[in-house]
Amino acid sequence: VRDAASLATRPGRRRAGRFLVEGPQALREAVTAGAALREVFATVDALTQHPDLVAALRASGVPVLPAEPAAVAALAGTVSPQGLVGTCDDVDVPLDVVLDAAPRLLVLLAEVRDPGNLGTVIRTADAAGADAVLLSAESVDPMTGKCVRATTGSLFHLPVVRGLGLVDAVTRLQAAGLQVLAADAGGSLDLDDAAADGTLARPTAWLLGNEAHGLDPAVAALADRIVRVPIHGRAESLNLAVAAALCCYASARVQRRGPDRLPTGAEQPPT
Ligand SMILES: C[S@@+](CC[C@H](N)C(=O)[O-])C[C@H]1O[C@@H](n2cnc3c(N)ncnc32)[C@H](O)[C@@H]1O
Repeated sequence: VRDAASLATRPGRRRAGRFLVEGPQALREAVTAGAALREVFATVDALTQHPDLVAALRASGVPVLPAEPAAVAALAGTVSPQGLVGTCDDVDVPLDVVLDAAPRLLVLLAEVRDPGNLGTVIRTADAAGADAVLLSAESVDPMTGKCVRATTGSLFHLPVVRGLGLVDAVTRLQAAGLQVLAADAGGSLDLDDAAADGTLARPTAWLLGNEAHGLDPAVAALADRIVRVPIHGRAESLNLAVAAALCCYASARVQRRGPDRLPTGAEQPPT
């Protein structure tokens, strides 16, 4: 338990090459995805409440270790832990592995700082069918407890590439045949137009900026286009995860169904 507790800090995770996975839902996703779980600490109550999960963990060779509620609570980052906390080997996927799989939809985050935002982006990218989430070197650690919880298991569904230099990453994405679309409220191309004119049909990496400072203009200038989600009201900008959701789903819709078109006969608004 003491070893596992050291994984609550970034240096501890780096030293051990492992991170904490908390709660039955995340553990279920991890075991189903074949993640390298090392052990799971469980209270007696949790053992009786989640017999299927405990059986699946044991069937996969993951030791399930009964532990005092206070010990499990000490490992958990939430106020009301659900009695189950596991440790899992870190997975560091190189960008080349992602590019070798001919991705069609990627998200590249520049200096994302909020672990809840990052977890939500990973969950949303997973839901939209994206192939991977890529992070610049200055981004928050995706294995932070708050981020792992916010992904609700999506962390185990798609690769997360870390530690990228932005200039190098954009160059490699373009060389691999992806267009890089920077998302920025001041972009010259409207997302709705990009959906209608077929721009979004191409394999795409969406580049999104930091919560406070947005995208460095020098980095945005490397992108093929700078795309704005139209702001119809008076908001200054969208939350990062919301912007990522709108951009990913616009791409997914066009890539899976073709360009957005008005139904035949509906070109003219009714008078
Ligand atoms: C909270 S916003 C950053 C706001 C910051 N004040 C700025 O100057 O850009 C974080 C990121 O979300 C994306 N974003 C937010 N609103 C957007 C919009 N209307 N269109 C496209 N992307 C947007 C951008 O990638 C932005 O860098």
